[in-house]
Amino acid sequence: MKTINIGIIGFGTVGSGTAQVLMEQSRRITRRTGVNICLKTVLVRSLRRLPDELADVTVTCEPDDLFADPQIDIIVELIGGIEPARSYILRAIEEGKHVVTANKALLSQCGMEIFKAAAAKNVEIGFEGSVAGGIPLIKTFKEGLAANRIVSIMGILNGTANYILTEMTDHGLPFAEVLKDAQAKGYAEADPTYDIEGIDTAHKLAILVTMAYGIEVKLSDIAVEGISRIDPIDVDLAREFGYRIKLLAISRNHGEHFEVRVHPTLVPESHPLAAISGAFNSVHIHGDMVGDILLYGPGAGKLATGSAVVADIIDISRNILHGAINRVSSLSYLPEYIETRQITPISELTCPYYLRFTTLDQPGVLATIAGILGKYGISIESVIQKASRKREGVPIVVRTYEAREADVVKALAEIDRLPIAAAETVKIRILTQED
Ligand code: HSE
Repeated sequence: MKTINIGIIGFGTVGSGTAQVLMEQSRRITRRTGVNICLKTVLVRSLRRLPDELADVTVTCEPDDLFADPQIDIIVELIGGIEPARSYILRAIEEGKHVVTANKALLSQCGMEIFKAAAAKNVEIGFEGSVAGGIPLIKTFKEGLAANRIVSIMGILNGTANYILTEMTDHGLPFAEVLKDAQAKGYAEADPTYDIEGIDTAHKLAILVTMAYGIEVKLSDIAVEGISRIDPIDVDLAREFGYRIKLLAISRNHGEHFEVRVHPTLVPESHPLAAISGAFNSVHIHGDMVGDILLYGPGAGKLATGSAVVADIIDISRNILHGAINRVSSLSYLPEYIETRQITPISELTCPYYLRFTTLDQPGVLATIAGILGKYGISIESVIQKASRKREGVPIVVRTYEAREADVVKALAEIDRLPIAAAETVKIRILTQED
């Protein structure tokens, strides 16, 4: 029986999870593929003992032990970040080795360089573990939905942010308190910036957009807002209007231009994404032939992400065995057909808005706000005003009909300059039911 040898770079959570999945599922994988997949070498920064069941695996700090070993067929990069991950992957490709990675930051920033290098060497790049952990999302785009024009993608792609928003919603706690607690429990990173500011979600969405539409997207073209400014009062008021606040990755295919954005969003309670709680991920996809698809599962974790990484190893091993490398293009579309298209500027976005004004409690305030909104063509759908004994202002919450982002921004700037304005207005975009 043919043996396919694997080298892993990095033995942290996902690296050790990948090794565990390979070991525990070894017999099943052989029964499914007809090959023996063998973990041969692990490259680490400082030498360490691996668990006893991995006693036959070579542990090294010397990159040549991995890259220059002619017996290694597939190199799995699991260290994350840009460098040295980028150089390691390019070196592996140069040596003619197939690559599996879970590195969304790298693929969203240097993906084209890596995919072009891989195409030139006729090697494969697997990256199922880079988006939504254990959910087989990349394969869904590459194979399951290959007969569709993808119309839209809406996703909860960051478990940490969804966990924080869920705790804020269920227990009425402020953002900072939930974050601190999540860090103490090890759910959130010591530096949570990428997770809470939407950057990690944007990295993942950039990858999905290329897979879905066959277009290249620059991170700088994606409008990104995080959840750090969400106040429990907005969570409560959103609920009064019948919504949950979620950090959503949103993309729509308008043919000549594409919406690609990440921001906190009021999701109607009846929408399936409103019900996704805790650290789970979920993606709603609309294809023109299939209609609506909803995927749900663990977006992170040792064995869940290990499952995705090993699925890529299995795919590549099958292709090696059958002499069918790149049978399915890594990016779903053939590299020569990846196009550049316009990403819709966020200022052109049209959607309903949740606006929370904080104003002095005096006659005529509501009329003044309504007048300025009206001047910019923004129509009010409903209003809630809460009485407050606080001197610093009362909240007036407005749900608008569909309005243009550029007009909303101008109206809010004018309102926030008024003497009656006690704090900056909070603006959250609303997902419409037909989404
Ligand atoms: N930090 C990510 C999250 C997991 O919280 O979802 C890895 O992508």
